[in-house]
Amino acid sequence: MSLLDYIDQERLPNHIAIIMDGNGRWATNKGFERGEGHKEGVRAISRVVEAATKASIKYLTLYAFSTENWNRPAEEVNGLMDLMVYAISEETEKLKKNGVRITCIGDMDRLPEYARTALIECIDQTKEGNTLTLNIALSYSSKWELTEAARRIADDVLNGVLNKEDISEETISMYLTTHGIPDPDLLIRTGGEQRISNFLLWQCAYAEFYFTEVYWPDFGEKDLYEAIIDFQGRERRFGKISEQIECNSTGSKPEKEQ
Ligand code: IPE
Ligand code: IPE
Ligand code: MG
Repeated sequence: MSLLDYIDQERLPNHIAIIMDGNGRWATNKGFERGEGHKEGVRAISRVVEAATKASIKYLTLYAFSTENWNRPAEEVNGLMDLMVYAISEETEKLKKNGVRITCIGDMDRLPEYARTALIECIDQTKEGNTLTLNIALSYSSKWELTEAARRIADDVLNGVLNKEDISEETISMYLTTHGIPDPDLLIRTGGEQRISNFLLWQCAYAEFYFTEVYWPDFGEKDLYEAIIDFQGRERRFGKISEQIECNSTGSKPEKEQ
């Protein structure tokens, strides 16, 4: 029996977000250059996307590169950009075949031209996919996103497109790069750190957090399914008390309360 059989299909997290951490330590521990860890990390992405599809997960957001990661040594940053372009060109056909739709959140303007072009091409090629939405957070940080949203909201108020009085939580969600994507139900961080590192601060307001010591390059199907099973054992109260909870199918917040 596979761990997949222990997952309750009626209570799946609709959206899983992952902070893929630990590539560098994985490599260093083995006496390799950090770049080897990033390469192995790409293989882990492939495994996890396949496992998520098998488990019928609808949305998977992967934190691939943060705004703060631009401050790493140029050699590592350039290596990561090259790796991303390589991985995209290798994987696009398979993703398309498996009905995976790629979306991207982050400050694309900061990406080198060749990386941006490859990404746009992949987004376009996979846009009809309706099995899994694979959302890549690249050059992303929550504070960047919220600042951009505040600027655009201010512009729209100044231009008369939006009334100040009409600004609600839904308005703010609409101005974020994740608009159209439901908030994550489950946030996984690999690599042993227990912090959020500027990731989806608004969207994770009610996510369940799951931290594991496993370095990202070692993370696979079994680890993903363990996280989902752990999630399914939790009671999501959304501020209420136990007796008030009638568990809906996904354990997600009822729509009118989101
Ligand atoms: C995560 O692994 C990948 C990126 C941030 C790009 P790290 O590179 O942060 O690995 P550690 O945390 O140094 O082990
Ligand atoms: C978070 O990992 C960013 C990504 C996984 C892309 P980091 O390794 O950059 O996070 P910190 O700096 O240790 O918090
Ligand atoms: Mg790290």
